[in-house]
Amino acid sequence: MVPMGDWADRRLKKLSDTDKVRDPSKVGSGFGKRIANWIGREKAYPTNVLHLATETKNRNHSAVFPEDLPEWFIKLFTKKGDWVLDPFMGSGTTVFVAQRMERNAVGVEILPNYFKVAQQSLKPPAGTQPAQLALLERQGKYESGKSK
Ligand SMILES: C[S@@+](CC[C@H](N)C(=O)[O-])C[C@H]1O[C@@H](n2cnc3c(N)ncnc32)[C@H](O)[C@@H]1O
Repeated sequence: MVPMGDWADRRLKKLSDTDKVRDPSKVGSGFGKRIANWIGREKAYPTNVLHLATETKNRNHSAVFPEDLPEWFIKLFTKKGDWVLDPFMGSGTTVFVAQRMERNAVGVEILPNYFKVAQQSLKPPAGTQPAQLALLERQGKYESGKSK
C-alpha cells in the first residue's frame, strides 16, 4: 500500500453526482469506479501492481501464470470475438483463458516440450474456433553474449 497523496484532498473536496455512483468504464470492459469510495482512505494499492491468489497447479512448466492474471487483462482490453496473441505461450494459460472467455487466440512457443504441453491441454470449448498454436523453429545459430 502507498500513501494516497495530495491529489485526494483536491479531488475529493467536491464530488459530482457521477462521483457518487459506480461509473462503468467507457470501453465496456466491465470495470468501473466510484470516486466516493476514496473518501477517508489514507493508503491505496499502486495502480501498476495486481494482487492475485497464487496457484500451485503443476502443469509441466516452471512459470505458469495464475489464470486470474491473463483474465484481468483480457477483460480490460478485449470483447468477445476479439483476438488475443501470446507470443510466449509456455503451457498455454493465456490461450486457455482467452478461449474460456470466448476470444480467438494465437499462441507461440519456442520450446517443443512446452509447445506439446499446450497443444495437449488446449481443447476449444464446444462451438468455438480452435486456438492457433505455432512452434517457433530456430532458423539459425545465435551468437553467445560473450565479448571477444
Ligand atoms: C514465463 S513463460 C510463459 C508461461 C505461460 N504464461 C504459462 O502460463 O505457462 C515464457 C515462455 O516463453 C518461451 N519463449 C522464450 N523465448 C521465446 C521466443 N523467442 N519465442 C517464443 N517463445 C519464447 C519460453 O520457452 C517460456 O515457455
